[in-house]
Amino acid sequence: MHNVYILKTAYYERLNLKMEPIGDTTQGQRLINFRIFYLITQMVGITIIILMAAWISIYLGGFGWSAPAIEFNWHPLLMTIGMIYLFGNSITLYRSFRYARKKNLKISHATLFGVIMVLIILALIAVFNSHNLASPPIPNLYSLHSWIGLGAVIIFGCQWVAGFVSFLYPQIAGPNKMVYMPIHIYFGLLAFVLAIIAALLGITEKAIFHMGASAYSQLPNEAYIVNSIGALIVLFAGLIVFLTTNEGYRRIPLPEDAMLLIGHDDERHNLLSDASSSS
Ligand code: HEM
Ligand code: HEM
Repeated sequence: MHNVYILKTAYYERLNLKMEPIGDTTQGQRLINFRIFYLITQMVGITIIILMAAWISIYLGGFGWSAPAIEFNWHPLLMTIGMIYLFGNSITLYRSFRYARKKNLKISHATLFGVIMVLIILALIAVFNSHNLASPPIPNLYSLHSWIGLGAVIIFGCQWVAGFVSFLYPQIAGPNKMVYMPIHIYFGLLAFVLAIIAALLGITEKAIFHMGASAYSQLPNEAYIVNSIGALIVLFAGLIVFLTTNEGYRRIPLPEDAMLLIGHDDERHNLLSDASSSS
């Protein structure tokens, strides 16, 4: 009972602290900036996917499941869509859809990571098949790219299970959520950054495998595409980390969230847990 009181007080304090005085346009200005950066981020993300698909279609032989070398090509495309573009969108979700109810945001955040997990599994099947079915077979997990990539996937998997159990079902107690939330955010961003590093290593590795080191050093047209993909991935990551860590862009609890505090018991329970999980 005492804990509930403390949580409730903390929740109201947060509301008061974060509410802008009437007529203050600072928050509106901040949100306009957010929207501009968010739009640029989306354009960069979509361009990365288009360029990756173009590199694979024009230079690497296109897509298919028929031959191991062609099956490999799904790996970079699916990882780019899942581990980079959708990952970035899922961690900015609470901020980009800030006016949606917290419960719906949690379900969307968790579902999007579930979709990413499916894409990761397909991308890994494609690359492992391309190694194991080649003749002679190519060894697995020998490169720095594969080690860092596997590290990102493992942290991602643990994070999904821990996030689901803590915040969605069955949910841990409010005070424990407060302790776990910064850890959740840290490992979420760590997995994202590791995926970015893995992608850069994978792109470089494939560029050298495909063009050959000496042809690559002559900067042919293919190298322009490859280097642009890598540079845009760095820009995308920079924008996503900025949007996710900027305190001014954090989602403020909705007025109806506060009104529900005096409503139905279950909702009140949800809101108190939301307050403790830094709504
Ligand atoms: C961004 C997330 C990515 C992750 C988590 C990831 C993960 C992995 C893993 C675990 C392997 C080892 C498979 C095996 O040993 O059979 C692998 C292989 C490979 N990946 Fe990726 N990958 C990612 C993106 C990319 C991208 C964007 C490319 C660009 C072409 C790429 C190119 C390769 C290549 C060439 C191999 C085979 C050689 C090797 O094992 O290093 N990867 N990847
Ligand atoms: C691989 C899976 C996951 C990753 C990488 C991840 C990552 C993140 C990151 C980076 C944030 C900070 C967002 C911000 O400050 O705006 C966050 C917030 C949060 N995540 Fe996750 N998450 C994952 C899975 C989950 C799951 C399954 C749940 C269950 C509902 C969940 C619930 C939350 C909640 C409640 C917040 C707080 C949002 C806020 O109020 O600011 N996460 N997550």
